[in-house]
Amino acid sequence: MDMTALQKQFIERHGESPEPVRFFFAPGRINLIGGHTDYTGGLVLPCAIRLGTMAAARRCEENHLALASFDDPFSCAVPLDPPPAPHGSAWVNYPLGVAQQFMRSGVTLPGLELLFSGDLPREAGLSSSASLEMATAVALNSMADAGLEMGELVRMARAAENDFVGLDCGIMDQFASGFGREGCALLLNCATLQHRQVALPLAGHRLVIADTKKLRGLAGSKYNERVEQCQEVELSLLGVLEAPSLSRLTPGRLEKNIDRIPTGTLRRRARHVVSENSRVMQAVQTLMDGDLPAFGALINASHDSLRDDYQVSCFELDTLVQAARDSEGVLGSRMMGGGFGGCTLTLVREDAAEAFITRAGEVYRKNTGLTAEFHPADTGDGAREIEQ
Ligand code: GLA
Repeated sequence: MDMTALQKQFIERHGESPEPVRFFFAPGRINLIGGHTDYTGGLVLPCAIRLGTMAAARRCEENHLALASFDDPFSCAVPLDPPPAPHGSAWVNYPLGVAQQFMRSGVTLPGLELLFSGDLPREAGLSSSASLEMATAVALNSMADAGLEMGELVRMARAAENDFVGLDCGIMDQFASGFGREGCALLLNCATLQHRQVALPLAGHRLVIADTKKLRGLAGSKYNERVEQCQEVELSLLGVLEAPSLSRLTPGRLEKNIDRIPTGTLRRRARHVVSENSRVMQAVQTLMDGDLPAFGALINASHDSLRDDYQVSCFELDTLVQAARDSEGVLGSRMMGGGFGGCTLTLVREDAAEAFITRAGEVYRKNTGLTAEFHPADTGDGAREIEQ
């Protein structure tokens, strides 16, 4: 990201001041495997990527947050007293929600001017929201000298999205944005928050993101519906589950108790979550063994389960995934993120990657009338201050 341009734009938006401008960055994420498991306390395997959100921040005398974006014309100045409430344009609610969390934790925020700029495609399943929240969180933490740990910033960023923005998301995206590390995937248990870095032995292979460019429309409400369905499954299994978490079931135990789950739809939802958790563990093993073909097969199985049992895919995602799988050198391909549009992730042999992009792009255009956008999925480090 061009820091000089951001600095120049900052002065244009907020004016000159003797106070220094500081820069913070938080990445988006890909998720190798572990789709729709986080909000039931399951396992996920995301990586932070190089694309993300920059926040430029400067103290000011007014007791407010002045928010502007390089990418969106809407800007506003919101007083800090009383604490901010949800506001007009969508994007400002992410930083405001995070500010509210800081204040609830007893941190006194100074008046600040902020300018955000991002290079993540928005609404594409690459966690542009979490990266905006985490960029805000690391910026506020430093500018207020709050000294909060990364785990706490992650928790507050997620709470901002749940309480302020209104999406019942799990903790994966904010966690990956905070704790990701270049060259690694992050194995996270979303119930205990235990995590460890797993090296990505991609030798001779590449991960490619393909954006369907399908507008996701009602994705938020369908996402919340899935969260509720998992809660219904958990209710029906009370007595079987010591703690009410679908993700604590093994596939064998689920099948033994499947009749307790009242409807076919809910049974499919449960089968996805439980089988996906075991695929995550198998995937970690394949990475440790350097067995990329087996890893690719698990990626494929994850997509099929999200499509058939969890039913969060769509024609566009399925078309792009199939076009990838039909391309030479592709080991696996799946949808990522909330679903109903957004991006796919494909593991492909390095020397076949360009041909795959051309071919899959053509097949996709022919079948859907849409032009997919391809991005390299290079891994990167988590949220931090950027020294100039
Ligand atoms: C979105 C949510 C995450 C997670 C994924 C699906 O990205 O923000 O918490 O549930 O969908 O795996």
